[in-house]
Amino acid sequence: MKKENIFYEDIAEVIISEERLQKRIRELGEEISASYNPDDDIVMVCILRGAVLFMADLARCVNLPVTFDFMDVSSYGESTTSSGMVRIIKDLEENIENRHVLIVEDIMDTGLTLKHVVDMLKTRNPASIKIVTLLDKPERRVEKQINADFNGFEIPDKFVVGYGLDFAEKYRNLPFIGVLKEELYS
Ligand code: IMP
Ligand code: MG
Repeated sequence: MKKENIFYEDIAEVIISEERLQKRIRELGEEISASYNPDDDIVMVCILRGAVLFMADLARCVNLPVTFDFMDVSSYGESTTSSGMVRIIKDLEENIENRHVLIVEDIMDTGLTLKHVVDMLKTRNPASIKIVTLLDKPERRVEKQINADFNGFEIPDKFVVGYGLDFAEKYRNLPFIGVLKEELYS
């Protein structure tokens, strides 16, 4: 990370550089493209707000006709081991019945958020639901029934920011994934 960056003092370590991110996203785009039929009706569902940058770059690497939709959810309470109940802040605009849903998420941590989103979307009778997550912290998984179909990088149990991921809404615009200095959040 360059000293000129305004967040230079806050980042302990860059764990995934911009180059590695973009290379892996191109590979994910190819994996995803190969897993569907070109005539499948696919809707990419971005989980706001963290997955915005990932979805924007990933979609350009998916060689299929897709549509975009957006969903904003928040966990009840602040606890990291919440009940897994999520509140819908913004629901999908599109009807997903008989359509192939590809959920695009920034990071899978406990898995509770995605489990709840998937269960809820299943009740709307989509043709299929798949998950692509940029980052995965497998050590933290509480919800064992949920797994990503496509995963960019497995990372250790550290709090990361950048490329869409925030701490208190900051750092989303960093072009790489970095570990936040512990003194900033502990
Ligand atoms: P979970 O899988 O339900 O525990 O929650 C996943 C959500 O928690 C993600 O969508 C992120 O918003 C947030 N999250 C988990 N780990 C991190 C992190 O290291 N940095 C920033 N946000 C995180
Ligand atoms: Mg999120």
